[in-house]
Amino acid sequence: MRVGVLASGTGSNLQALIDAGARGQLGPARLVVVGVNVPDCGALSRARGAGLATFVVEHRGQPSRDAFDQTLIAALQAHGVQLVVLAGFMRILTPAFLNAFPGRVINVHPSLLPAFPGVHGQAQAYRHGVKVTGCTVHFVEDGVDSGPIIAQIPVSVLDDDDEESLRLRILAEEHRLLPAVVRQIAEGRVTVAGRRVRIAPG
Ligand code: GRF
Repeated sequence: MRVGVLASGTGSNLQALIDAGARGQLGPARLVVVGVNVPDCGALSRARGAGLATFVVEHRGQPSRDAFDQTLIAALQAHGVQLVVLAGFMRILTPAFLNAFPGRVINVHPSLLPAFPGVHGQAQAYRHGVKVTGCTVHFVEDGVDSGPIIAQIPVSVLDDDDEESLRLRILAEEHRLLPAVVRQIAEGRVTVAGRRVRIAPG
């Protein structure tokens, strides 16, 4: 399965995918291209460092959200992408994008959805005072961090945590969860019935 990754930031989740692939832990999934919307982001350097094909589409340079998404679609389709992974991609995609990859766009989010969607899910959870938060990988629908939940890992909030220590512990779990889900999808083990997602045993 040909996987395209979209990212905007540091790219540590992208790195987790690259490393999992190098260890043979992505099953039939193969990273084929990385697209970013921030020209000097860490994700772009990591992708180049791994020898992956890359493209940059700056949203500022595009006349509209539709134009931005059409450019992304074309770039991903040019690489025959079958699964799109949003790994810290900080733009909301239009229905046109989702229709181009129906049921084939996933996102990693740093909270136990549906709690704390949107930006800074970790800080939101910390400030709310929850005792358990975590991370989620979900299918992307039209809406912010909505869409059927594929898998989650809980992370306890410790008494001596601050926002940064909590963020880092959640991020470490994202790095385990995202490659595992990509592999499960590529192995054809993930099925969706309404909002319920099932993962067949490997
Ligand atoms: C992650 O916490 C992800 O859940 C969120 O943005 C962060 C991206 O981190 N959407 P990185 O760029 O993968 O290091």
